[in-house]
Amino acid sequence: MSLRVYAPATIANLSVGFDLLGAALAPVDGSCLGDRLKAELTEKGISLACSGPWQHKLPVEAKENIVYQCAEHFLQQLGTAGKIGVKLELEKNLPVGSGLGSSASSVVAAFYALNELFERPFPSDRLMRMMGELEGRVSGSVHYDNVAPCFLGGLQLLLQSEKSFCASLPFFRDWFWVVAYSGISLSTAKMRALLPDSYSRADLIKYGRLLSGFIHATHSNDAELAVSLLQDVVAEPYRSSHIPGYTVAKKMLNELGALASGISGSGPTMFAVCKSRENADQVAAWLASNYLSQPGGFVKVCRISETGTHCI
Ligand code: HSE
Repeated sequence: MSLRVYAPATIANLSVGFDLLGAALAPVDGSCLGDRLKAELTEKGISLACSGPWQHKLPVEAKENIVYQCAEHFLQQLGTAGKIGVKLELEKNLPVGSGLGSSASSVVAAFYALNELFERPFPSDRLMRMMGELEGRVSGSVHYDNVAPCFLGGLQLLLQSEKSFCASLPFFRDWFWVVAYSGISLSTAKMRALLPDSYSRADLIKYGRLLSGFIHATHSNDAELAVSLLQDVVAEPYRSSHIPGYTVAKKMLNELGALASGISGSGPTMFAVCKSRENADQVAAWLASNYLSQPGGFVKVCRISETGTHCI
């Protein structure tokens, strides 16, 4: 018994929802922007082989790989550790430390594949909790704004509730999301360390107004209002100067007519929201010529992906 899964790249925060909002991505050209994982039942032990364009950035020792650790954790929780084994093959397609939810993609792919392989022993909420916990080992703290959209697809809002983990928000289907990965790697833990320990009351209220207004705009299908509220008061002011080329690019994207732009997750990927394919292509061309700084950098014109992680 074996299966293969695909787990999409994600944009966390979306400017307005630090740690609370994230979207799954699907490139409009149909290309792959997410990790793939093959999982197979074996008699004993865990084995992991890695391939793909970014496998050279992963730990050499399999046990240090987060996917291996996900399998260990899953089998322990299932109570079958040592009694049954799994063979895993990870195709690492997302750059590490890119701001595109690379670690979430690997973690979600691993838990999703294992849960399917063992005929769904864990319900979604339990699975999501395990995903968040393991992803937190890589990023330095537990936050679900990559994990939730990667797992479930769409635009996900994280809730502070025992009843429901997250809520799927309606999204503007005619928007294009251009993402540009510059090619450098930034550690999420270090980018989080740049943020203040506490925020002023004025910032707290502004954050609440922006996020609640954005959610209202999605439910009332008011794109103009939504765009006007896509502002980041929590992370961008402290992170932007640590992302080479970001401030200049943001100014230029505005001049090119992008509706909004921001840092994807903790960077260095930046995203731009565009109202037409023509504008998205123009923005993408500018970013390709001016924002990419290292080999491996890329630009993709995307839509929000309705589909999260799934078997292929
Ligand atoms: N919300 C997180 C952050 C996403 O910005 O630190 C990064 O994984």
